[in-house]
Amino acid sequence: RPGAQRWVPAEASLGELKRAAEGCRGCELWKPATQVVFSTGPATARLMLVGEQPGDREDEEGKPFVGPAGRVLAEAVDAAGIRREELYLTNAVKHFRFEQRGKRRIHAKPAVAHIVACHPWLEAEFEAVQPQAIVCLGATAARSVLGRTVAIGRARGEPLVREGLPAPVVVTAHPSAILRLRGDDDREAAFAQLVADLRTAAGLLR
Ligand code: URA
Ligand code: SF4
Repeated sequence: RPGAQRWVPAEASLGELKRAAEGCRGCELWKPATQVVFSTGPATARLMLVGEQPGDREDEEGKPFVGPAGRVLAEAVDAAGIRREELYLTNAVKHFRFEQRGKRRIHAKPAVAHIVACHPWLEAEFEAVQPQAIVCLGATAARSVLGRTVAIGRARGEPLVREGLPAPVVVTAHPSAILRLRGDDDREAAFAQLVADLRTAAGLLR
């Protein structure tokens, strides 16, 4: 059976998961990538943020959200009054998918097959971290966490409670979607919405 499952150790600590993920061959994305990008944040974190996949910078540094989208996210987290130490940051897909164009590597959206293949890692992270709230940053994260496609515009902001999930889920836009907006007003409104959605998630913490 394809997918990450056979590489995921049972009842593993976060450190064990991270080490095991280096050897994952659950889909073909590991091959052209520099390294796996697993997560940052302690197992004691109460709030879990799930992104799409590592980008170019993340692929090189081995840490999630260290590039431009990560800067927007960090600003929004600060604006929401959340301490960064409270966060566990991860991605639905743990290898960078890209197209090579000359010397440049252009981000390519992960396919549903990649999201499904990588899902066992996220499942194991739920077990290891046991978050009190989960934020899905964008459609890929929502597809992975909820197991189905959701329209961000309609699903965003309202906590969703689903059987089989360790915590309520707040869906919001991906920070890179904010970066792509051209008008200052649009970008400001989208940023404010991201901050509001993060506050909603923080409000779920016990
Ligand atoms: N975008 C993501 O979704 N995740 C990262 O780690 C970086 C950018
Ligand atoms: Fe394994 Fe996920 Fe990487 Fe695919 S993207 S090889 S499933 S860690």
